[in-house]
Amino acid sequence: MQEQTGTESHRILELLFSYMPRIAAERKMDNLLVLMADLGRSMVSADRCSLWLIDRESKELWTKVAHGVDELRIPIDAGFVGYSVRTGNPLLVEDAYQDPRFDRRSDEKTHYRTTSVLTVPLLDTAGVVMGVFQAINKQGKDPVFSQQDLERLALTAVYSAKTVESARLIAEQEATQREIIHILGEASEYRSKETGDHIQRVAEISYALAKYYGLSEEEAEQIRLASPMHDLGKIGVPDAVLNKPGRLTEGEFCFMKSHAIIGESMLKTSKRPLLQFAASIAGSHHERWNGTGYPRGLKGEMIPLAGRICAVADVLDALSSPRCYKEPWPEERIREEFELQKGEQFQPELVDLLLEHWDELYGPYRS
Ligand code: C2E
Ligand code: SIN
Ligand code: SIN
Ligand code: FE
Ligand code: FE
Repeated sequence: MQEQTGTESHRILELLFSYMPRIAAERKMDNLLVLMADLGRSMVSADRCSLWLIDRESKELWTKVAHGVDELRIPIDAGFVGYSVRTGNPLLVEDAYQDPRFDRRSDEKTHYRTTSVLTVPLLDTAGVVMGVFQAINKQGKDPVFSQQDLERLALTAVYSAKTVESARLIAEQEATQREIIHILGEASEYRSKETGDHIQRVAEISYALAKYYGLSEEEAEQIRLASPMHDLGKIGVPDAVLNKPGRLTEGEFCFMKSHAIIGESMLKTSKRPLLQFAASIAGSHHERWNGTGYPRGLKGEMIPLAGRICAVADVLDALSSPRCYKEPWPEERIREEFELQKGEQFQPELVDLLLEHWDELYGPYRS
């Protein structure tokens, strides 16, 4: 590295420390790309800077230039960026228009005049190129990028590659978790031959009720993710009971009731907070506000809130849908049932919220 003045290295450190917490807190890839491009631009004092990522499927590079603006896409082999992708090498160009590798089309499209250019590839952990940093038009009295700018952008590229990789890993894990939860939920639905998307509807109604109740987006989202597993314990209920076309005898209903505890026990074996949360919903979604529910006969606020919320959503769905043992109820009768059960089976505030937002929550059952 060249000799650098104290104030200059101080500026670089300040820059890094101001961006690092913002980058660490950001989960959305789009926003990450914008943040890291801003960091790169400040690091090398460029007029513009973008972080291009490779989309191997479409053989394109894509980027976001600003929050809320659509993504840009270019062919994977286009211009200077394409050169860095192909070779894995950085590039320092003083005047783009003197270089045969320059792709003038983007200047023509954006009415911009590119002069000096700096590109640096991003390598993943395996050493494979995953994207490219591109800085354009060095600002200041000497309008070309220096070897030191290249080193700084390379440093930013190492940091950005790690950030993109871990953001992808987290997104992948979250998607896997959502799919496993969905499959678990469907397992109970599959056996009991419940038609349609019972599981998803209960999740959406629970989420909406949670929001109207005043829970945060994050808490409501946890309920949306966990509620699909509320009937998981039904996979432990004998087929003859689960799918009996008529009314259950008292003995059969005893079997049926065990689904709450079975589901809770299955989910409680996990230490994951989301599955622990799902366990509490499975174990409390048939409790009743007045204390006459099962499996524990809990009363009022002793019943976990998510279980109280899921109870309303579950019964709305059960009454509105055909089941092996019953036809759907008419809309008016369902409303009346909730009014009747307000403060009995269900927490009064939740029934009020359901009735207040009836058209939205019951709407999907009308068609
Ligand atoms: P599910 O079908 O998902 O019903 C969930 C809850 O919705 C029921 O919990 C109950 O609180 C409410 N619900 C459903 N249908 C009616 C109804 O016609 N009238 C009223 N007032 N409430 C209704 P519950 O009672 O603890 O039942 C748990 C599960 O047991 C049900 O889940 C269903 O799988 C099964 N089940 C309940 N009753 C019968 C029955 O008569 N025959 C059969 N084959 N299964 C039943
Ligand atoms: C039950 O049979 O206990 C639940 C369904 C109903 O109340 O009709
Ligand atoms: C539940 O988690 O099902 C309720 C809390 C309890 O009594 O165990
Ligand atoms: Fe249930
Ligand atoms: Fe259910």
